[in-house]
Amino acid sequence: MRASNLSLLVAVNWMTLVASTSIANGTGTVFYMTPGIGACGYTNSSTDLVASVSNVTFKAVRGATANPNDNPICNKTIYLRMPHTSGPVAFSVVDYFPIGNSVGPDDVGIPKYYFQRYAPVDEGIIPNVSWSIMST
Ligand SMILES: *[C@@H]1O[C@H](CO)[C@@H](O)[C@H](O)[C@H]1NC(C)=O
Ligand SMILES: *[C@@H]1O[C@H](CO)[C@@H](O)[C@H](O)[C@H]1NC(C)=O
Ligand SMILES: *[C@@H]1O[C@H](CO)[C@@H](O)[C@H](O)[C@H]1NC(C)=O
Ligand SMILES: *[C@@H]1O[C@H](CO)[C@@H](O)[C@H](O)[C@H]1NC(C)=O
Ligand SMILES: *[C@@H]1O[C@H](CO)[C@@H](O)[C@H](O)[C@H]1NC(C)=O
Repeated sequence: MRASNLSLLVAVNWMTLVASTSIANGTGTVFYMTPGIGACGYTNSSTDLVASVSNVTFKAVRGATANPNDNPICNKTIYLRMPHTSGPVAFSVVDYFPIGNSVGPDDVGIPKYYFQRYAPVDEGIIPNVSWSIMST
């Protein structure tokens, strides 16, 4: 997104956003991933504004279903408060990843295409990113 596209989002007060219509929130590390066929059953491309959350976040959401395709978190907007941006940036949740040695429950994956706008790919991660998933 270019700065001009972010201008509307700047008006959004982060705390109001998190407190009002959030179904999940946290602060974790952003890494980059390759979109494809995700847990939600969609096929997304490398330039789609999509995100992957942890299996913990995905399964803890209210109304979580045994079939991940039917999980209410699917296609919901996740706002990420990245460093050095004037406001939160929006992605759509389409997948989950299993937590493990290098990734935790509050981490979030985004396509490399977007990651590189916020940090050098060499660095691999962006720490300390607050996020909120909206109910609609
Ligand atoms: C944010 O997440 C915490 C748990 O991690 C929860 O206690 C709190 O209610 C959440 N807030 C909103 C607005 O969802
Ligand atoms: C991801 O893929 C689904 C199914 O093809 C599509 O409906 C959705 O709009 C895509 N998401 C984004 C952010 O492009
Ligand atoms: C996801 O949401 C977008 C609108 O935000 C919509 O255009 C798209 O069809 C939705 N995809 C699915 C698979 O529900
Ligand atoms: C998440 O994935 C990890 C690693 O596979 C697993 O140990 C854990 O039980 C999973 N948690 C949930 C809630 O599915
Ligand atoms: C994360 O943010 C906290 C408080 O804003 C700060 O104390 C901490 O050093 C930050 N950690 C990293 C890895 O940037």
